[in-house]
Amino acid sequence: MSAKKGLNLTLKIWRQKNNKSKGQFETYKISDVSTESSFLEMLDMLNENMINAGQEPIAFDHDCREGICGMCSLYINGRAHGPDTGITTCQLHMRMFKDGETIHIEPWRSAAFPVIKDLVVDRSSFDRVMAAGGFISVNTSGNTLDANAIPVRKEDADKAMDAAACIGCGACVATCKNGSAMLFVGAKVSQYALLPQGRVEAQRRVLNMVKAMDEEGFGNCSNTGACEVECPKGISLEVIARMNREYMSANLDRG
Ligand code: SF4
Ligand code: FES
Repeated sequence: MSAKKGLNLTLKIWRQKNNKSKGQFETYKISDVSTESSFLEMLDMLNENMINAGQEPIAFDHDCREGICGMCSLYINGRAHGPDTGITTCQLHMRMFKDGETIHIEPWRSAAFPVIKDLVVDRSSFDRVMAAGGFISVNTSGNTLDANAIPVRKEDADKAMDAAACIGCGACVATCKNGSAMLFVGAKVSQYALLPQGRVEAQRRVLNMVKAMDEEGFGNCSNTGACEVECPKGISLEVIARMNREYMSANLDRG
């Protein structure tokens, strides 16, 4: 009985030296890829072949490879994180592809995420939005109130946890025709706004985070909902509505 052969694939991969240079698709062939392997393992295989052939390997982002860190960020066949739903690129398996298929692999496309090299983009704009308000200030002088001493409604705790599932991958921005970051910022604003500990700085937080978001060059939301569809963590558009309400009320109070 003959052993089952793996997939033979043609890969069209975006190569770009740096942010200043123009990029282009390059074509690569890879054979005998196991359907059990992950998409990133397939790229590891390709890179190993390229290194052995004396070629420059393809730069791509990854870290945990467990859907936790939000580092992996590939646009695969026209979809953020590829053809499966509710997963990150590192959780995508090669069984989703057919033998003989051509796969297009691109970096996230957004003015606020400039390409560093090949498939790696600079997402530090997200870090700056977080630094503008994605935290709570706690008095650590020794009089700190135990967090468990503050009652939180179950429904609010659940919604805050759902919002906190955002891993900051940026798929929402990459998939949005406007390059909007409102699903990401809405998740971060909601995660705190729903809890009593987050209410203290809620108004300042939403004003500062929205200001930082605009300054970073992210676009506006036009309610197409592509972000919600491609989000690997199921963040709901509800967080954008909550952020808009928080923002309006903070602006009214400011006068
Ligand atoms: S909202 Fe979803 S798609 Fe956007 S950064 Fe968070 S996890 Fe990624
Ligand atoms: S590598 Fe961490 S989420 Fe994919």
